[in-house]
Amino acid sequence: MKSKDTVTTFEAPKTSVIQDSNISDEQFDFLSKLIFEKVGIYLDHNKTTMVQSRILRRLKKLDLDSIKDYITYLKENPDKEMDFFINSLTTNKTDFFRENDHFEYLKDVFLKDLIEKKTGTSVQDLYIWSAACSAGHEVYTLALVMDEFCKKNPRFNYKILGSDIDTDILDRAKKAVYPAEQIDPIPRHYLQGNFQKGSGENEGFYRASDHLKRNVKFKRFNLTVPTERVPLTFDIIFLRNVLIYFPPEIIKKVIDKLASHLKSGGLLIIGHSETLNGIEHDLEFLGSSIYKKK
Ligand SMILES: C[S@@+](CC[C@H](N)C(=O)[O-])C[C@H]1O[C@@H](n2cnc3c(N)ncnc32)[C@H](O)[C@@H]1O
Repeated sequence: MKSKDTVTTFEAPKTSVIQDSNISDEQFDFLSKLIFEKVGIYLDHNKTTMVQSRILRRLKKLDLDSIKDYITYLKENPDKEMDFFINSLTTNKTDFFRENDHFEYLKDVFLKDLIEKKTGTSVQDLYIWSAACSAGHEVYTLALVMDEFCKKNPRFNYKILGSDIDTDILDRAKKAVYPAEQIDPIPRHYLQGNFQKGSGENEGFYRASDHLKRNVKFKRFNLTVPTERVPLTFDIIFLRNVLIYFPPEIIKKVIDKLASHLKSGGLLIIGHSETLNGIEHDLEFLGSSIYKKK
């Protein structure tokens, strides 16, 4: 007779298997309506696969069985889940020195003009807003350009606000740690003193230095909520590669709001694949997706 101790049993390993991974039209309509109401992102049915795969990722984290269960969970726990839901449906693609002609315009035209116009010896603060900043690449690109300018022209100082709706991506922006391959587009001369190379467990990563971060602040900000505002007016607002996710009526509201946050003569810069054609506004078009407040 076998002693009890020697009996070996085998059990199937516990893995969470999603029972139903397909999204129905009705479920897609519910989720796309909700993301539109919350953040203005318009998703039509050609985005079904994208929505399905992003929601499935969230489902696995929550150990839920189906998209139906996820929707029930979201409805029952809106306070707990809404930010995660929004974070899963935003698209955060970005790069250092992305659409570089905008940074060249800043240096060669806008900042040059400012030097010529500047009178007196007092220090002028320049305020810049990267209004859908993703993981901070745009913010730190602006910081590199502005830091170089202010060192050469000490009568100027700068402050940059980076904002986004996505709380995960804002945490990454605040940490400012980037894989080496993402650093590649940064012209080499900017790296010295502004980025530190990781070693040991941080091998393969770079971090923006405290010196670069000292004039930068990040904040969660929803562009599409008319009552959400910041108590500042800006010399330059970068609003690049986010309007593509909004329908015209939302673009109009966002532009009106951001234009009201611009100083007279200030710049609003949108992405190259975006346009304000067909949107009523009072900004002067300077070319190359750059607009000026009169
Ligand atoms: C493609 S990224 C653009 C990043 C950067 N501006 C660039 O051009 O590289 C778009 C960003 O817009 C943000 N976003 C989408 N809807 C938003 C909203 N209603 N308010 C604020 N940010 C939003 C997303 O979270 C995402 O990080």
